Amino acid sequence: MLRFARVKWLHRVSCNLQKMQTNEKLFVGRMFSVQDSLPKLPVPALDQTLQKYLRSVRPLLTDEEYAKTQKIVEDFNRDPGPKLQTLLEKRAQRETNWLSDWWTNVAYLEFRQPVTVNVSPGVVFPKQNYTDKEGQLRFTAKLISGLLDYKKMIDQQTLPVEKMGKQSLCMMQYYKILCGCRIPGKKKDTWVCYPPDEANPPRHLVIAHNNAFFFLECYGSDNQPLGTEQIYEQLKNIVNQSNEPDVPVGLLTTENRNKWAKAYELLAKDKESKASLEILQRSICAICIDNKLPESAPGEEDSTAAKMMLHGGGSQFNSANRWFDKTLQFIVGPNGICGLNYEHTTAEGPPIISIVDHVLDYCSKNADNSTKAPGVIPPRKLKFNLSFPALKENLEEAAENLDSMVKDVDLTVFKFTEYGKNFPKSQKLSPDSYLQMAFQLAYFRLYSKPCATYETASLRQFQLGRTDTIRSCSIESLEFSKGMMDASLSKQKKAELLRKAVTGHKNYVAEAVKGQGIDRHLLGLKLIALENNMKVPALHMDVAYSLSSHHNVSTSQVPAKYEACLVFGPTVPDGYGVCYNPQEKQVILGVSAFNCCPETDSKRFKDSIQQSLLDMKSVLEGSIQSKL
Ligand code: COA
Repeated sequence: MLRFARVKWLHRVSCNLQKMQTNEKLFVGRMFSVQDSLPKLPVPALDQTLQKYLRSVRPLLTDEEYAKTQKIVEDFNRDPGPKLQTLLEKRAQRETNWLSDWWTNVAYLEFRQPVTVNVSPGVVFPKQNYTDKEGQLRFTAKLISGLLDYKKMIDQQTLPVEKMGKQSLCMMQYYKILCGCRIPGKKKDTWVCYPPDEANPPRHLVIAHNNAFFFLECYGSDNQPLGTEQIYEQLKNIVNQSNEPDVPVGLLTTENRNKWAKAYELLAKDKESKASLEILQRSICAICIDNKLPESAPGEEDSTAAKMMLHGGGSQFNSANRWFDKTLQFIVGPNGICGLNYEHTTAEGPPIISIVDHVLDYCSKNADNSTKAPGVIPPRKLKFNLSFPALKENLEEAAENLDSMVKDVDLTVFKFTEYGKNFPKSQKLSPDSYLQMAFQLAYFRLYSKPCATYETASLRQFQLGRTDTIRSCSIESLEFSKGMMDASLSKQKKAELLRKAVTGHKNYVAEAVKGQGIDRHLLGLKLIALENNMKVPALHMDVAYSLSSHHNVSTSQVPAKYEACLVFGPTVPDGYGVCYNPQEKQVILGVSAFNCCPETDSKRFKDSIQQSLLDMKSVLEGSIQSKL
């Protein structure tokens, strides 16, 4: 069903593009102007991937394990590697992007754990300047005006094409953010989308307050967005209609996907509930007006705010004031705490941050949208029939499961203010690779061993491109980490090891973003084997493959103009999640772990990252190259 909906929709987009390209007057599609000329994602050469793979697993294996893996890789390169490679190349000729549908399914729609914490990142915005309910609603109204202002650029396709260096990027993710929703399924979820070019595109938001959800039409009868004051009046009306906490139906969206799918089926049996679900799914996005937050220990305010964005704080706080299946949910809490949560199926952080930057720019302006749109439709509460006894049980279970998940999340947000990306730049080093080496050193300092590390690489240079993995742990990063912890080495030697590790990482990045990474290729080889009723290759069953895919450190760079910080949960029970926003003079980081794992601790890891960054600066400043 998803595949059908997707193909149909993509077909529509491409028809629209063709229409625009044949009629200059309609050619407003700056946003898609280079879409058709973007290259297709290549399939890397088999031998190249296997050689890189061997290098990448070397630091994680004993000599004996490595010898076994070498043999497995050699065998794979004889058979079935070449056969699978040919099949994959054929798929790549047929499809616009050989990976994207597979990736959507494997990474997202088939994933059965709750999307909350495990899939959907939160983003904390810089604290805003309001302290009471009126201020909160006025800020929400302005945020909505800013959002509608951004949406106009998507609807009219005037958004500038995003670039990485000189390279234009695929803009399809932008088109899907403000109109999508995930729907639970028993084995696999689906994802629905109502883009601006469909006959009846969404014109409403869903507003959550006190666990109740409201339909809010945000355009007047002249099709212009409501003015900010008009939106404020609508929000006041909503808040007045929802003074007491409602039945926490939103908690169902925090559940394991199979359980939620069963509950969803029951919920959708009722006509009124079904209509409410459709309104949620068809909405532009959700706006969650939150109530009280949990108490924060001094100095922990940023981390508490980040938790609100990641999971809502639990059933006693704001977790039921969310619909976690919705692609985008802005969250406006009390006392200036705000941010968002997004469901990851369709987009990575950068398009989301582009909306955040625009909305915060808009909110920082003194002027509001002063239009008085005609024909304002009053907000309407969405009704859910929760009288089925099984649904009541589902809700109780969802609250219990969520609360234990919330207790398990160990999250620390911090600003490293000693220096930002200007320092590595001044040393002629890539800031991103430099920070990645700091994470390698931080881990080694705590555990005296390296670990498989994931960093997101963008594949958006290609049509419908998503991501590949940058394997940040390398032979060079291990030599660097060991060297830094060796008191007998000079600063000069340590700096040399650092430079070599940073350069090695940067080279990996350069290849990964050009579609020459190894992880998606290896995944493709496995999936094409399964699709052709072949066995899972021995390479994919080998200890090296599982060890190097067990990411004890999972990282992503998400730069933002504002002091915003993205946060996500670890991808393995004994791991860390690290998201970072490198700014010129500081770096903002969000570090997560799970409390149930006795070996991990987000504060210890944060301290170790800080120490690593200080030590790395010190060795570079004490070495000769920095003085050249
Ligand atoms: N000397 C001086 N400056 C350098 C340098 C060097 N050796 N190498 C890089 N720089 C500069 C760059 O020119 C750039 O300058 P700018 O700030 O003026 O733009 C800056 O340093 C940053 O470059 P770098 O740190 O190397 O990172 P990057 O911008 O190339 O990004 C990735 C690297 C991997 C993060 C990026 O390619 C990517 O794939 N991002 C996607 C991440 C993503 O999707 N995240 C979301 C997950 S949900």
